[in-house]
Amino acid sequence: MHTHGKSPSLPLLEVRGIRKTFTSRGVFTAAKRVVAAEDVSFRIDRGAAVALVGESGSGKSTVARLLLRLERPDGGEIRLDGENVLAREARGASLRYRGRVQMVFQDPFGSLNPVHTVAHHLVRPLLRHRRAGSGEVRARAIELLRTVGLEPAEEFIGRHPYELSGGQRQRVAIARALAVDPDVLVADEPTSMLDVSIRMDILKLLAELKRERGLAILLITHDLASARYLAERILVLFRGRIVEEGPSNQVVETPAHPYTRELIASIAGGTETISAAPRAKAKPSDEASAGCPFANRCPDVLDICGTEDPAPRHIDRDRRVRCHLYEEGAHALGTGG
Ligand SMILES: Nc1ncnc2c1ncn2[C@@H]1O[C@H](COP(=O)(O)OP(=O)(O)OP(=O)(O)O)[C@@H](O)[C@H]1O
Ligand SMILES: [Mg+2]
Repeated sequence: MHTHGKSPSLPLLEVRGIRKTFTSRGVFTAAKRVVAAEDVSFRIDRGAAVALVGESGSGKSTVARLLLRLERPDGGEIRLDGENVLAREARGASLRYRGRVQMVFQDPFGSLNPVHTVAHHLVRPLLRHRRAGSGEVRARAIELLRTVGLEPAEEFIGRHPYELSGGQRQRVAIARALAVDPDVLVADEPTSMLDVSIRMDILKLLAELKRERGLAILLITHDLASARYLAERILVLFRGRIVEEGPSNQVVETPAHPYTRELIASIAGGTETISAAPRAKAKPSDEASAGCPFANRCPDVLDICGTEDPAPRHIDRDRRVRCHLYEEGAHALGTGG
């Protein structure tokens, strides 16, 4: 059930040109500006998933934190059902917003409070967001545990986090996110700290939630195989910019941007995740240079790449790339068109 495409209906969540720059000051170094998100735009519809992939430091978690409103963007818009939430809620996310956009973090050990039972973790959001009255809250918590596949739920509900495996904890974290009945789930590397053997189970659960509850998911991952499994679309992030985006199968099978090709090649070369891709040392002068941020690593670099940051261009109806190798309207390599 792929819902991406030409639907004229309002997107559930739409991000338009958000930007975030951090200034960090080392003891012995001059202040350094890091562009963590630059002109990031995408949409997620109900029952659809979008994957954000890219190497460490590319800005994936920053985008997640901006969406969760844990961080305020320097510019751009976040629209939920067409409404610009940044304009309406200038001071931060309202309870209502938090009831609609929820997050699952990478570390299932750190995200649960060790002194509290599973029940506590679920009852709190249910009551706070008025998703259940005190008389029905236990039954609702048990239902949530069944939804995430923790059975027998009556047994799990009284346990403490240390009595659970990593995979079970991540299921509790997902149940807690679901407690408020959100429309959007942002999952920041939800499986990267889990045993390889149970990663697929968590991805299957997310796929089921997407399909059966119409949940919209932003999956952040180093792993292109996971991205392709869960998401209809992949966004490739490099130095805070979406350098390539399109239908997952196309991005993986016929990557257009030299950076995406590098990612795919690093997987084909036997390493499983993007983190193993070669990394250039970030140069402090990077932000001062006007050219493409990938130019100094690019095997196909042109003269123009050193002086002009490429604007995004369509290479197909549904695919965009930020790269001077392509002209607007050109077809992706290998499609024969
Ligand atoms: N609060 C902050 N203050 C200063 N710099 C920050 C802050 N948060 C993020 N950054 C910088 O912004 C850039 C993007 O960081 P971010 O955590 O979004 O990357 P990421 O893609 O999630 O990386 P990883 O795969 O390692 O989780 C990095 O250079 C990081 O050091
Ligand atoms: Mg991160």
